[in-house]
Amino acid sequence: MSSEKTNQSWGGRFSEPVDAFVARFTASVDFDKRLYRHDILGSQAHARMLTQAGVLSEAERDAIVAGLDEIRSEIEAGTFEWRVDLEDVHMNIEARLTERLGVVGKKLHTGRSRNDQVATDIRLWLRDEIDAILVELNRLQAGLLQLAETEADTIMPGFTHLQTAQPVTFGHHLLAWFEMLSRDHERLVDCRKRVNRMPLGSAALAGTTYPIQRQVTCELLGFEAIGGNSLDGVSDRDFAIEFCAAASLAMMHLSRFSEELVLWTSAQFQFIDLPDRFCTGSSIMPQKKNPDVPELVRGKTGRVFGALTGLLTLMKGQPLAYNKDNQEDKEPLFDAADTLRDSLRAFADMVPAIKPKREIMREAARRGFSTATDLADYLVRKGLPFRDCHEIVGHAVKYGVDSGKDLAEMSLDELRRFSDQIEQDVFAVLTLEGSVNARDHIGGTAPAQVRAAVQRGRALLAQR
Ligand code: ARG
Repeated sequence: MSSEKTNQSWGGRFSEPVDAFVARFTASVDFDKRLYRHDILGSQAHARMLTQAGVLSEAERDAIVAGLDEIRSEIEAGTFEWRVDLEDVHMNIEARLTERLGVVGKKLHTGRSRNDQVATDIRLWLRDEIDAILVELNRLQAGLLQLAETEADTIMPGFTHLQTAQPVTFGHHLLAWFEMLSRDHERLVDCRKRVNRMPLGSAALAGTTYPIQRQVTCELLGFEAIGGNSLDGVSDRDFAIEFCAAASLAMMHLSRFSEELVLWTSAQFQFIDLPDRFCTGSSIMPQKKNPDVPELVRGKTGRVFGALTGLLTLMKGQPLAYNKDNQEDKEPLFDAADTLRDSLRAFADMVPAIKPKREIMREAARRGFSTATDLADYLVRKGLPFRDCHEIVGHAVKYGVDSGKDLAEMSLDELRRFSDQIEQDVFAVLTLEGSVNARDHIGGTAPAQVRAAVQRGRALLAQR
C-alpha cells in the first residue's frame, strides 16, 4: 500500500488505510491546532539541540528553523491548510515542513516522539496561559484595593446566615475578596513551577539512543527543570489537574463574589449599582437591568469543576506510559483556562465600576439590631459576665422587635429597664461608627484597619 493511502508518518506497517470515520474519530487537529505556536517553539529548540549533538548539520537546522517560522506565518495568515487525515497539530506541521524542505523536513523528528512532543507543547502553552491569567488576577486585585480604599468608611451590614449580624465597612468586605484572590495567586504561581518541567527527551517512553542534550533544550525553552523519568515524562498530566484545581478554587471565589453582586443589585438590597455596560435588559420586561456578567461567571464555574473531575477521571485508570486517552486532556484544559481568564478579565473591568449606594447600605446596617453585640461588650466592660450580657441584650432586642425600635432609637430609660449598668455613654457604642471603629486590630473592620490592609495589599502586589 502506498503512503498516499495510509498516513505518511506511520503507514509503513499498515496494509489498508484507516477507516474514514475512525480517522476523524481519532484526530485531534480540530482542537490541538491551537498549540501551533508552542509546537513550533519546541521543534525549533529540538532542531537546535540536534545540531549541537552532531545529529543535524547547521544548514539543516537553519532550514528547519526558518521553515517553521514560515509555517507559523502561514498559520497566522490563515493560509495554512489543516488536514484531518494528518491527525494532529504535530503531524500537520511536520508534513508541511517536509512539503517545503523535502528530505530535511523528515529529519526533524529524530530522537523524539509525539508523546514527548505533545507533553512539551501543553506545558509551554499552559505556562503562557498562567502568566496571562496572573495579569488579569493582578488587575482585579488592584481594582479591589482601590475601591476598598475609597469605601474604607462606608458602613454596611455584615451577614451570617444572610441575616444582619454586625456592621462592617464596605472596604473590609471588598478586602475579603482580595484575600481569596491572593491565595489563588499563590496557588497558580506554585502550580506553574510543576508545569515548567521538561518532558522533551523522553521520546516515546524509554528515552532515545541519540546523544541528546536535554539541558540545551531545557534552557532554550525556559524550563526550570528536566523531567527525571521518561515514562513519567510522557504520561504525567498532574500539572494540568493541579491547574484545574487551582482554577476551580479561583472560579469558586468568583462565583461567591458573583452571588453577592447579584443579591446586591436586586431591588430587595439595592446596595450597589453596576454600570449598564455590564448588564443587559429583558426583551419583554422594559424595567429590567440584569446583572448578566456575574450570573454568567457563576454559571461558568461549573465548566471548570467539570474539567477538574474530567481530568482526574481521565488519568485514574491509565497504565504507564502514554495512552491515546491522553489526547482527551486538551479540551477540558483549554476550556478551564479560557473560562478563568475571561471571568477574571470581566471582573477586573467591572469591579472598579461598582457604584455603592452608601445611604441604603447604612440604613440596612441601622436596621436589624446590628449593634447588639456591641451592647453586650459594653456590659462586659461594666463588669458583667458575657453570658449574662448576652441574655440582657436578648431581652432588649425582643423589646425592640415588639416596639419597632432599634437599640440606638431607645431612650436611656428604656435601655435601663434591662440593666441598671447602662448609662449615657452607651449611645457611643450603639452608633454604627462606634461599632466598626471598636474592631481595631489586624484583620478587623475598623476604617483605620482597612486603610492599613490596603497598604499591605499594595506592597504585596508591588512584590509580584
Ligand atoms: N494527538 C496526540 C495527543 O494529543 C499526540 C500524541 C500521539 N501519540 C501517539 N502515539 N499516538 O495526545
